[in-house]
Formats: sequence, structure tokens, C-alpha cells
Amino acid sequence: MTYTVMLAIDKRDGTYLYRQVIDLVAGDIGSGLLKPGDRLPSLRKMSQAVGVSVPTVRQAYIELERQRRVESRPQSGFYVRHRPTNEIVRPARSINGKPVALNCRPLMERVYDGINHPNLVPLGIANPCMAKPAAKALHRAMKRVMSRAEERSLNYASTLGEPALRRQIAYHYLDTTGSQVEPDHICITNGGQEALLLALTAVASPGDVIAVETPTYHGLLELIDSLGMLAVEVETCPEEGVTLSDLKRTLEEHAVRVCMFSTTLGNPLGVTMREDDRRELVGILDDFDTVLIEDDVYGDLRFDGHRPVPAQFLGSKARIITCGSFSKTAAPGYRIGWIVSDQYIDKIARLKRAFSCSSGLLQQLTLADFLASGDYSRHLKALRPVLQRNAERMGALVAQHFPRETRTSKPVGGSVLWLELPKSVSAEQLFDDAVAAGISIAPGQIFSPCSCYENFVRLSYGHPWGDQTEDAIRWLGRRVKELAEQ
Ligand SMILES: Cc1ncc(COP(=O)(O)O)c(C=O)c1O
Repeated sequence: MTYTVMLAIDKRDGTYLYRQVIDLVAGDIGSGLLKPGDRLPSLRKMSQAVGVSVPTVRQAYIELERQRRVESRPQSGFYVRHRPTNEIVRPARSINGKPVALNCRPLMERVYDGINHPNLVPLGIANPCMAKPAAKALHRAMKRVMSRAEERSLNYASTLGEPALRRQIAYHYLDTTGSQVEPDHICITNGGQEALLLALTAVASPGDVIAVETPTYHGLLELIDSLGMLAVEVETCPEEGVTLSDLKRTLEEHAVRVCMFSTTLGNPLGVTMREDDRRELVGILDDFDTVLIEDDVYGDLRFDGHRPVPAQFLGSKARIITCGSFSKTAAPGYRIGWIVSDQYIDKIARLKRAFSCSSGLLQQLTLADFLASGDYSRHLKALRPVLQRNAERMGALVAQHFPRETRTSKPVGGSVLWLELPKSVSAEQLFDDAVAAGISIAPGQIFSPCSCYENFVRLSYGHPWGDQTEDAIRWLGRRVKELAEQ
């Protein structure tokens, strides 16, 4: 087929030229003008057709290849890829690239009602450890603790937390990433959410601008909003994480106080930034004197078991705070998370004392025992393949039952799949219909401060897989097709 480029590039548009070339080609692939197997115009022809330089076209084609929309064939050129499963979701940018206050609060309330409803098929909540609960081993650990320290376990813990647990967390980092962490630089918190709250309160004030990935974890957005801060979104690629060029542009244009990123494994994209990129990220933030709060609650859940090294341990530790949690790997109900920080630990300890005094000692002692016995590592080893299998099953069912244009993330770990539905489908409508049909899902709008993901949803595969799960995915696929046709 001879493909003729129909549009020219608008050089007055503020968007990078190579991005415009990407959008142009991607649009023609999406509309069917370019079909699987079609050859893209040569670099020279494309450059002449759209009026940009050959290197700009090359940059665009390489990016399209990285996004797996096209493939290069030696000595031949670039071709549109065949579609074995769902296409991968496109990197997302903020609608306006400006700091904003959260504008999807009412929807968030409704989603939380749905998420917590016990009778719904739970595809809305990211709760990976439920796919293979550690209940029995934790039960045994708690019994051991009760028999050893019955009275002590009823007492207050110290503000920074139980030393035995802090030591175990430090060992765990050493064991899985080779990083040296001082137990005295760890503060135990009430889950990852309090870790993020304490970290953010320690380094930022109301009115400050906080940079976040897009899409990002909705709890982070609620936190930023509750503290009277503004969020600015940074382009995030489903296969590479934060786009560093867009981060630099954001830091140049706005007085960003803090970046809150998940560089080890993100929610909802399930992406790990490459180690080189994590290092470069640390360098960029150093140059701009910007604090990084890294949300590492999913770091232990890469399917391949390679635990990414948190950014804090790759460069200068000073302005980086790492937040972790046992909610995603062991027991969300225990509400135990932690913070690792070198420079801010004293301030964080003061805030911890003021906000919640300390975290539950029985849960801390139980987790310390769970880690020390080796049961935690064994549990992670068993959990990861279950999650990977669930991710594959969910991806295959989505490819089978959702409309062809549906795109999905390709998570390398964690428990959620991010779906881009046909443009005409309202995720909010789908959410309402799904709840009425007994299924909870998370609509895309809550993952952006400006509610931009109107035709996206996040589905969780972090619960035990069963017929109910499969029926729910089939039902959603049918409903999405109906909504797309309306
Ligand atoms: C990315 C991310 N960070 C932090 C949290 C909060 O973790 P916790 O349940 O330990 O408070 C969550 C929970 O869903 C999450 O997905």
C-alpha cells in the first residue's frame, strides 16, 4: 500500500516536533490508514512530507519503535507492527502541564465506597497479597510473639518504631539490593500512606507545587490536596516511567518543591524505571535542588524477582526520602509502613510523635519475626509468580473480550492493569454500570489531578483468581463494546 502523509507539522504549536510526528503516525495507525505490516515512509521522504529534519523523524520513529507500534527491519525501514495482543497504552502528558488542585473528589468518594464494598468482585482495589495471602505464616509469627512478649506487645512502641523491625527492614534492603541502610534512619509508620504524609509534611508547605507521574496513585493526589498543595503532572511512559526530558521542562517552568515518584515499580502503570534513568533522575533533582519522595511500596513485587534499587541508594541520599509498606506484600490491615531518610529523620520523628505517637507494637513484632524467620522472603517468592500468571490471564481475557482498539499497560510487577478504552467510552459510566452488576473497578479520572483519563480504567488481578474474576472481565468487555457503539 502506498501511504500518503495527509497532514503537515505545525511549527507554531508548542509541542516538540518529534512528538507531532509521533502523533501523526500513531493517529494514522489508530484510524487504520496505516495497517499492520505497512512500511512507514523513509526518513527522508517523511522529513520532506511534513517539513521537519531527518534527525527529528528518526527520533520519532525510534520512539514509536520503543512504544512497540512499529518495528525496524534491517536495510529495509520501519513497519507497522502486527498486534499479537492489546497495544500498549501511550505515554500520557498532562492536559495543561500546569500545577492544579484536585478536581475529582466526589468521584473518588464513590470509588472508595465501591472498592470497600464486600459483595463486589474486587477489581477496583490494588491488594496484591490477597492473591496468595501470608495469613498462616503471619498467624504463627503472632502466636510466637504473644508467647514471648505478651505484656510488652500491649505497650506503646517507640516513636521511630520497634528496633527489631527496623533492623529487619535494613537487612531486607541489604539482602535484596545490596544497599546499606542505618536502622536509625528508618521510622515505622501507619502504612505507606502515613509514610507519604509524614515525608511530604516534613519537606513541603501549603501552596507548594508537587510533581507527580501521570497517571499516578490516587491516594497520593488526595494527600497533596488535603495538605493544600498543588500537583503538576510529568509525562510517564508505560515502559520507561518518568520521561526525564519532560521532568526537566517541568522543573524549568515551575517552582517544584518535591517530586513524588515510584521509580522502582509504579501504580497504575506497573513500570520500573531503568537504573540509568533512576541515576539520571537523581542528578536532575540535585541540579534543581528538588526533594524526591519515592514511593517504594511495590518494589518487592517485580515478577522476575529482581528488586530494583530505590533511587536513594543510587546517588546522594540527602534530598531523597523513601517510603515503603507491608500492605502490598503481607497484610494491609496491619497498617505498617516505613520511611528511610538520612537528612529528615529527626523532623519526621517529631511529626510522627505529634500525629500518631507510634505504630502498633504487636504488628511490628509480628512482622519482625516474619522477616527474621525467612517466611517473608519465601512468601514473596511464592506470591510473584501468582501475580504474573494473573496478569497474563487478565491481559489475554481483555484482548479476547474488549474492543480491538483497547490498549493495556504491560506491567512488570504489582497487581494492576491499566486500560485505555475506545475514546467514546466513559469510564465513569462503566464504573456505575459495573457496581450495579456487582463488580468494582477504578475509573481513570482518579489517577490524575485534572481528571484526564476519562476513557481509562484500572483493573486489579491481586485477588485469588476464579470463575468470578473471569466472568467479571467478560462482562466488562461486553459492556465496553455496548458503550462504544452508543
Ligand atoms: C502506590 C501506593 N503507595 C502507597 C499506598 C498506601 O499504602 P498503605 O496501604 O500501606 O497505606 C498505596 C496503596 O494502595 C499505593 O498503591
